[in-house]
Amino acid sequence: MKKVRIGFVGCGCISPIYLKNFTKMFKEVEIIGVCDLIRERAEKAVAEYNIPKLYADMYELFRDPEVDIVLNITRPYEHYEVTKQALLHGKHVYSEKPLSPDLKEARELVALAQEKGLMLGGAPDTFMGTGIQTCRHLIDSGFIGTPIGGSASFVSRGPEDWHPDPEFVYQYGGGPMFDMGPYYVTALINLLGGVDSVCGMTQISYPTRPILSSKKYGTVMKVDVPTYVMGTLRFHSGAIANVFTTFDVSNLQDGTRLEIYGSEGSIVVPDPNQFDGEILLKRGRSKEIISMPRIFSYSENSRGLGLADMAKALQTGRPFRANSQQQLHVVEVMSAFYSSSERNAFVKIESPYERQAPMKTTELIGILED
Ligand SMILES: NC(=O)c1ccc[n+]([C@@H]2O[C@H](COP(=O)([O-])OP(=O)(O)OC[C@H]3O[C@@H](n4cnc5c(N)ncnc54)[C@H](O)[C@@H]3O)[C@@H](O)[C@H]2O)c1
Repeated sequence: MKKVRIGFVGCGCISPIYLKNFTKMFKEVEIIGVCDLIRERAEKAVAEYNIPKLYADMYELFRDPEVDIVLNITRPYEHYEVTKQALLHGKHVYSEKPLSPDLKEARELVALAQEKGLMLGGAPDTFMGTGIQTCRHLIDSGFIGTPIGGSASFVSRGPEDWHPDPEFVYQYGGGPMFDMGPYYVTALINLLGGVDSVCGMTQISYPTRPILSSKKYGTVMKVDVPTYVMGTLRFHSGAIANVFTTFDVSNLQDGTRLEIYGSEGSIVVPDPNQFDGEILLKRGRSKEIISMPRIFSYSENSRGLGLADMAKALQTGRPFRANSQQQLHVVEVMSAFYSSSERNAFVKIESPYERQAPMKTTELIGILED
């Protein structure tokens, strides 16, 4: 079968792992070309990964008939326009998270893709790794009985001590909920199903923050979005989970935590920003905590797995997992933390969500099932 050809819009901080995985790990896709507003970044990618084409801008990429899927790895506030233009030019799109920071825009993109008969999908795809897939298998097989609830938290002082250009993290579209929340909410809905309603509280703890990474050390950033976001989700199943994300405070133990509680036991889910990690299971009143073997493929950093799965869907016509229904549901849930806090009220979630098929265990890393 002919390889699916991908065009990159954006060659920034996250691009090396996509460049590496699409040239080395995933066998049925290839990178046809790249572009970036900062041309040197695209030139570096072309040179390092032997990529055939360097486009002057995203429109040249969208006009190239050799591009099958556009990979949008621009900053969150740029996602909407890049995805919209790619769809209007007739391209399938896979976007980094979030689909858009704005719920109305996210809905518009999903409607546009449907109207044009194009595929739209996006990150995160870590839920397809062995860690969360094994947890899903354990929960679906009854290891913890009936799921009753969960608890998720991401606690850190923000990425400004390592990201060279962290400004976007504190601008519209950023903040811990829209930056890290997608991993937690996506994992939760893959484990517990769709969300019915949300109640949230948010605050901006520091209105300005200094950059601490070397290139822009000392530059002061304005904070436009909530950086301390806490709330509760009620799932359609009846389960209840609390979710807490912050860039404001130091974590005392591990800053990432995701646990699911059931009538017969509880499970510690690995960091949902990773493809693997230790799974702990405790059953009934037993004191024993068991470290469970992970039983699916993709334990290494497999970013792009969701796009490889979408590429296979493009070839075969089957559904794919990191789809726009999931992305839209996640955007609606995350937005509800803000709107609930503003209105002092519970917010009902309207978008439907249906879990896609579990991953297949396979010897063939880098080739998705038909
Ligand atoms: N950095 C990470 O560790 C990380 C991890 C997971 C996900 N992400 C997500 O990946 C996305 C990008 O993050 P990043 O850290 O790589 O940001 P970045 O600022 O380092 O890179 C974004 C790049 O996109 C380019 N760009 C923006 N608009 C463009 C356009 N119209 N045409 C061509 N190029 C354009 C910019 O010039 C920049 O080089 C974000 O959505 C982020 O949430 C980042």
